[in-house]
Amino acid sequence: MANPTIKTNRYAPRTGTERVDARDKVRGATRYAADDARPGLLHAVLVPSRIARGTVTRIDSSAAQRVRGVRSVLTHENVGTFGAGGFLMGGGFGFQSFYPLRSAQIAYRGQSVAMVVADTLEAAREAAALVVVTYDSIPFVATVDAPDAEPLAQTAVLPQPMFADRRVGDPEGALAGAAVTVDQRYTLPPQHQNPMEIIATVAEWNDGVLTIREPTQNAEAVRHGLARQLGIEPAKVRVLSPTLGGGFGQKNSLQSHTVLVAIAARSLQRPVKLVMTRAQLFHNASFRPASRHRVRLGADRDGRLVAAVHEIDQQTSRHDLFPSFGTEITSRLYGIGNYQGRERLVRTDVQTPGYMRAPSEHPAAFAFESAIDEMAYALGRDPVAFRLANDAAADPLTGKPFSSRHVAECLIKGSETFGWARRTMTPGSMRTPDGSLVGWGVAIGIYKAAMAPAIATVRLNTDGTVGVAVGGHEMGQGIRTAIAVTVARALGAPAAAVEIALGDTRAAPQHLTAGSWGTATALPPVLEASQRLMEDLRRHAGSTAGESGVTALALLRASGRPFAEAESRRRAPGQPEQVFGRLTGGLPAAAGPVYPDFVSFSFIAHFVEVRIEPTTRRIRVPRVVSVVDCGTVASPRTARSQVEGGVVWGVGAALREVSEVDPRYGGFLNADLAEYVMPVAADIGRIEVDFVDKPDTRLNALGVKGLGEVAMIGVAPAIVNAVFHATGTRLRRLPLKMEDLIG
Ligand code: MOS
Repeated sequence: MANPTIKTNRYAPRTGTERVDARDKVRGATRYAADDARPGLLHAVLVPSRIARGTVTRIDSSAAQRVRGVRSVLTHENVGTFGAGGFLMGGGFGFQSFYPLRSAQIAYRGQSVAMVVADTLEAAREAAALVVVTYDSIPFVATVDAPDAEPLAQTAVLPQPMFADRRVGDPEGALAGAAVTVDQRYTLPPQHQNPMEIIATVAEWNDGVLTIREPTQNAEAVRHGLARQLGIEPAKVRVLSPTLGGGFGQKNSLQSHTVLVAIAARSLQRPVKLVMTRAQLFHNASFRPASRHRVRLGADRDGRLVAAVHEIDQQTSRHDLFPSFGTEITSRLYGIGNYQGRERLVRTDVQTPGYMRAPSEHPAAFAFESAIDEMAYALGRDPVAFRLANDAAADPLTGKPFSSRHVAECLIKGSETFGWARRTMTPGSMRTPDGSLVGWGVAIGIYKAAMAPAIATVRLNTDGTVGVAVGGHEMGQGIRTAIAVTVARALGAPAAAVEIALGDTRAAPQHLTAGSWGTATALPPVLEASQRLMEDLRRHAGSTAGESGVTALALLRASGRPFAEAESRRRAPGQPEQVFGRLTGGLPAAAGPVYPDFVSFSFIAHFVEVRIEPTTRRIRVPRVVSVVDCGTVASPRTARSQVEGGVVWGVGAALREVSEVDPRYGGFLNADLAEYVMPVAADIGRIEVDFVDKPDTRLNALGVKGLGEVAMIGVAPAIVNAVFHATGTRLRRLPLKMEDLIG
């Protein structure tokens, strides 16, 4: 028995309204795109490229065509002309600008070179294996450290202000004059999201109208992107994505295979389903790029940080410039008056990397919060006290106030819950009776509090049901529950009576749900529409209008009307009315963290205990305490679950997850769940989550900031800092390995 004192969080009390979709999920009643099994459905299977860069010189699909049940083998030679859907970060709709089968070009290993469609999945798979492809290969770059990998200054290649270097004061001068300095380099690997639900697409045509069922965080982009690719009106495309089995940024835009499924369904006049394999997911969808960081810090003898320079090199693809924005947060973690952030992009021959939960922020926080810990030790300061002493009063970059900032409260609450006062500063000074090394580490995280425009309708029927339609996608994070709770409270109705249409382009415009802005985007118009509905009913009800506690349903029934309905349109502070045009056009329209009168971020502090077995150096994380300032907690139960999930991700990032690249072949080697190692239940100890729960009403009427991503930011450095505290060994490359601590 390793440690009888460690409790798990398995039996921790759950508070707040239960998930409105929980019952369906546990009964298996929730229908995912891949569950479609209707008669007549055809099955599609992708054929991946075996080379990393070059061209297809010949495709022989004759053997594939002879497999019984095969209907079609689409290749670049016979697919016909279709358009590109563009790149999400370049005015388009896709996770990348490259759409396979538009030409013979091979841009990365695992790229689709053909798609087989057959009556059965078995026939399609058998035939896919029989497609013979001949290639002409050219040299490729597999990693950011390859000799020909050349870093590009982001500020030069992406000239928009949002991607520019960040600078305030005179960082080099302040560094040169600092009494104590830290100058270190940190490295993080590529990683893949691996949601439980694999990407699947069902395409169907009826009277010239295309219906796509696909798990996506961005139904509107899929709709508009496909319309552009197929040369049809957006009105002729409907996208349905009511529930995702995890998104994490991997499903945040048009996938490059979706158009192929639509084309096959059109030419065969049958619905077609494609379910990627797990291995294909590693090569056909976006991932977290590799990054390397140099952090330089300067402090005075009193423990005041006077300068910071954070330089990031991040992997991108050859065909796109996926931006790096880690310095957006490291410039605001502390009140440092002299700061320089510089980001460079390194082209490699991969599919375009993208947004994986806390995309640039988790790596940036790992580097910066490790360096902060190094500085605390260089100064002989307690790492919590050091952080508190360097808190920011206003945004160091813009001088604007924070709409709210309770990071100090997160640190203080967290250290009390964790028992930080019992920590002894010297590395290696804490042990358990069985000889395990004990380390206690801390780190903070911040993440922009963004908002996007949304349109909501709320309709109350005399049978008591409430229909809500709004832009937003349910990925398991709990947005349906947060909406149900908000509507139910405003109308005096049970949460279970609220039926919510999400991810349906016919119900409401569906802005990308990402960047932790889902709740702060959907709830304000949902609340306003509910309040309008209530006001309308009160107005009509006359004498009963003043009664408190009267429900909307009672008022509706008294009015004799068959239903009542209200709408609301909300946008972020400072956004112009025209932003609704971007919303309905499927383009990103989120704002933040910089608003006209303030900047907005969510904050978190993580306290971590590690235990290291003295001989094998196996690292365990028995205990984490995380305290969050996300503004108002809209849905306590799902909020807590978000944070627990974020902590688990952080444990994975620190100790497990890496997508391995073989420079000889490119692509990703460990492309399955057996070899892409993630934490399992046995790796997770007790996670205690607490919230500051103070409304940020400058940002929106509900006071909601964001939670999904800040939850994991700072977990990895807290673990690494705890490992240093346990052992005296400072590790600067993730994931940590047992062998790093031996010898
Ligand atoms: Mo998230 S990585 O912004 O879907």
